[in-house]
Amino acid sequence: MILKCEDVCKSYRQGEALVQALYNISFSLEPQTSLSIVGPSGSGKTTLLSLMAGLDSPSSGKIEINGSALQDLSEAEKTAFRAENMGIVFQQFHLMPYLTALENVSLPLDILGHDQPEKRAKQWLERVGLGDRANHLPHQLSGGESQRVAIARASVIEPAILLADEPSGNLDTETGLNVMDLLFELSDESGRTLILVTHDRSLADRCQKQIHLVGGRLQ
Ligand SMILES: Nc1ncnc2c1ncn2[C@@H]1O[C@H](COP(=O)(O)OP(=O)(O)OP(=O)(O)O)[C@@H](O)[C@H]1O
Ligand SMILES: [Mg+2]
Repeated sequence: MILKCEDVCKSYRQGEALVQALYNISFSLEPQTSLSIVGPSGSGKTTLLSLMAGLDSPSSGKIEINGSALQDLSEAEKTAFRAENMGIVFQQFHLMPYLTALENVSLPLDILGHDQPEKRAKQWLERVGLGDRANHLPHQLSGGESQRVAIARASVIEPAILLADEPSGNLDTETGLNVMDLLFELSDESGRTLILVTHDRSLADRCQKQIHLVGGRLQ
């Protein structure tokens, strides 16, 4: 299994109150499969994705990625594990504003200490059709271009899992579809596991498996 969630619960403390975002989520996913996570706003999709990415910890339960139990890793180990195994694409792109497109894509390789990070980053920028935008800063890119840079940045490390949270949510319909085609194409050709959070049923249907969250519970 590339991913295993076992009885995962998540609550957030809000002053005196406790907000329960996820209740006893259990499922597993075979490698090289695409999974969509669908559900209404507030149902816990982003929460679940951030737990799977190790960006936050469950209140109880276990998450295993590629054989590693996230709860057994220290924060530093989790950061290193994420850098080597996961590519993440967010709705808001999250590019580094003072780095060029090329520098944004080469950053994960720099962190991992690869030799020739710029060369590989350039190849990925070309792969997403932005070879001629390498020296643009994020504010000099369109929304669709920014998201393609973010996809290149997530893919450049050739991660076992690609996680995407509403990657087309901030784009017009056609640009959004182009971005999604690119994501599916990349995960198909590399046999990578893709986990996609989306409100869009037709995008969700393009994934091999689906899970549906309602009010923090798996339906
Ligand atoms: N840091 C936080 N502190 C307190 N409550 C939170 C926090 N993050 C999320 N929540 C609550 O947890 C629930 C699930 O939020 P989450 O962001 O996972 O929903 P979502 O399914 O991604 O929604 P959307 O489709 O609108 O993005 C919501 O009720 C939200 O208010
Ligand atoms: Mg969300």
